[in-house]
Amino acid sequence: MKTVKIGLLGLGTVGGGVYKLVERQKSEMVSKTGADVEIAKILVHNRNKKREGIDESLLTDQWKDIIEDKEIDIVVEVMGGIEPAKTIITEALKAGKNVVTANKDLLAVCGEDLLEIAAAHHVDLMFEAAVAGGIPIMRPLRQCLAGNEITEVTGIVNGTTNYILTKMFELGMSFEEALAKATELGYAEADPTADIEGLDAGRKVAIMATSAFHSKVVFDDVHIEDIKYAKEFDSVIKLIGIARNTESGIEACVYPMLLSSEHPLASVRNSFNAVFVHGDAVDDVMFYGRGAGEFPTASAVMGDIIDVIRDMVNGCTGRISNTCYRELPVKKCRDIRSKFFLRMQVENRPGVLASIASVFGEHKVSINKVVQKIITDGMAEVVIVTDAVKEYHMQDAQEELLRMPIVKEISSVIREY
Ligand code: NAP
Ligand code: HSE
Repeated sequence: MKTVKIGLLGLGTVGGGVYKLVERQKSEMVSKTGADVEIAKILVHNRNKKREGIDESLLTDQWKDIIEDKEIDIVVEVMGGIEPAKTIITEALKAGKNVVTANKDLLAVCGEDLLEIAAAHHVDLMFEAAVAGGIPIMRPLRQCLAGNEITEVTGIVNGTTNYILTKMFELGMSFEEALAKATELGYAEADPTADIEGLDAGRKVAIMATSAFHSKVVFDDVHIEDIKYAKEFDSVIKLIGIARNTESGIEACVYPMLLSSEHPLASVRNSFNAVFVHGDAVDDVMFYGRGAGEFPTASAVMGDIIDVIRDMVNGCTGRISNTCYRELPVKKCRDIRSKFFLRMQVENRPGVLASIASVFGEHKVSINKVVQKIITDGMAEVVIVTDAVKEYHMQDAQEELLRMPIVKEISSVIREY
């Protein structure tokens, strides 16, 4: 019976969880997979860091120690960043090693290329943990739902921002305090601006869209807006990632959006994530669970490790590689349709509402709801909710409104889900 040897790249939040989970599962592995498993080497940046419960003889700061070790069968990359992760993964695949990674930064830029290299060398490249932490979503998209024409993948895919928004809205925590707590809990990226600015969610949207629609969508294709204005609203606001396969092309975006409190996504709180998928055969399916953190993410990595070992034992690694066999266009941001919620301060006198409505009309923005509140004798606050309109029509309308002397300010603009 073989002992499968793992080279672990990174021993931070996720790597530490993987190490502990491999230990915890050790006695079950032969029954589960047909082989034993062992972590043979661990790459870290700083070998002098104190690491409780870790066999220090396994540590190295030289990645070639792992790639050149002929006995290592699986490389588990949980260090993050583009380089040196890209070089190490490429070299590992070329050396005939299977790879499991949680690295969405890398996959959102060159996942397809890496899958091609894996296919050429008949090895597995698995990445369940890269999207939505502990929630199984990549395997469902690539395997369980493979018999569908998937048209939409939408959800909350960043645990840090969801945690921050929950704490700000429910407990009145400051943004800074909530971010510090999310970082302490291991949810945030090494550079948390990736979470706050929506980049992390954008990477996940690109990875999900590519697998769901069988067509390459990279990070630069995703239109992203951050959560910095979210606290101005009273209703539930969530950072939503959307990937749609429409007749005129793929829409890939990340926006903070206003949700009715009855919407199922409104109740996704703290570090939980949720993803909806619509397929022509399955109809709607929803995945829900912990989107970040040590053990939820290690759970996804461990599932991949077990799958790879099963493939190794059965001599069938490299079964599922690049599934991008289409070349669909990705829509420009300006052409994507959304419903908008606008709050503006205007002069309170006859004809003002009619003038505003005519600007929207001229720019093909259809109004769904209007609410007006008198602030003072001279001023009123008008809240307008539109139907789904193209981004550039909305922008043109806003620019014209801001040029009108009767409009003092457009204080907030947000999309409605
Ligand atoms: P982390 O806590 O910052 O840990 C990174 C680890 O990698 C550390 O052990 C670090 O070494 C090592 N490392 C980084 N750069 C290195 C280099 N150039 N050479 C050698 N070692 C290096 O990160 P994390 O939160 O575990 O995240 C790891 C990956 O998983 C990232 O791709 C992240 O996006 C992804 N991910 C994270 C979560 C989560 O909830 N945290 C969830 C899903 C996916 P030292 O210990 O010596 O500093
Ligand atoms: N920083 C990421 C998040 C980790 O908060 O969702 C999980 O990918």
